[in-house]
Amino acid sequence: MTRLAGKSALITGAARGIGRAFAEAYVREGARVAIADVDVHRAEQTAAEIGDAALAVEMDVTRQDSIDAGLARTIDGLGQIDILINNAAIFNAAPLVEIDRAEYQRVFDINVAGTLFTMQAVAQHMIDRRIRGRIINMASQAGRRGEPLVAVYCATKAAVISLTQSAGLNLIKHGINVNAISPGVVEGEHWDGVDAFFAKYEGKAPGQKKKEVGEAVPYGRMGRAEDLTGMAVFLASDEAAYIVAQCYNVDGGQWMS
Ligand SMILES: NC(=O)c1ccc[n+]([C@@H]2O[C@H](COP(=O)([O-])OP(=O)(O)OC[C@H]3O[C@@H](n4cnc5c(N)ncnc54)[C@H](O)[C@@H]3O)[C@@H](O)[C@H]2O)c1
Repeated sequence: MTRLAGKSALITGAARGIGRAFAEAYVREGARVAIADVDVHRAEQTAAEIGDAALAVEMDVTRQDSIDAGLARTIDGLGQIDILINNAAIFNAAPLVEIDRAEYQRVFDINVAGTLFTMQAVAQHMIDRRIRGRIINMASQAGRRGEPLVAVYCATKAAVISLTQSAGLNLIKHGINVNAISPGVVEGEHWDGVDAFFAKYEGKAPGQKKKEVGEAVPYGRMGRAEDLTGMAVFLASDEAAYIVAQCYNVDGGQWMS
């Protein structure tokens, strides 16, 4: 299928995990992709493995100069940006009384400011060039409700859902659709890190939390990055033109809203 033929996409945090799966799915659908990541070596490796349709781009979403340089490099390499996926994010966990202010700031800088200011820069590019673009933000079930040990990450993902709503309402007059995807628990290096936090704070053996959350998913297992690609392709495709400012759960039945 080539539902994204001729399109160019910028995907942040695409060196690994879900972002990489999105990049591979977009290329299968005929798009060219910029693999934007703060880990430029891994981005280069990923782009080389995907092939000619992928371009590695160094981008730290916490720095405006890096966002601007990453956009310039993407536009130089791919011509323009039709689709942005704001996927880069980090996780952390701590009991409320142990939350560290610097760590709080770091997580908000990447997950919230990174999403907002990458979205702003790409929206300006789309408006300037009259591109009827698509922006997809990565939320989480963590943004739908709090968790006892995950106050900061949950708050960042609630903010991503809210930013998606406001940006979606503001940008649709330019023909730019902004929506979000909310995964549940997805296997990969990210969740290996999450498991380590729970091992520390809940005294669980390594791998135990992961096993428990997988068994608790109504579908019967943890998600895989590939479970999310269908929604990412759909939201970027022509069929999704009338969808504005929404956040879709793709989580095996974890959350209903
Ligand atoms: N894995 C899950 O269970 C899960 C669940 C819900 C939501 N999500 C969300 O999905 C998205 C992808 O998750 P994942 O599991 O693939 O994560 P991951 O940790 O495997 O990948 C994140 C990528 O972001 C990059 N990154 C980190 N800081 C960056 C920065 N400042 N600038 C640019 N890139 C940066 C990392 O280098 C990495 O390549 C994230 O937004 C995450 O919050 C994941």
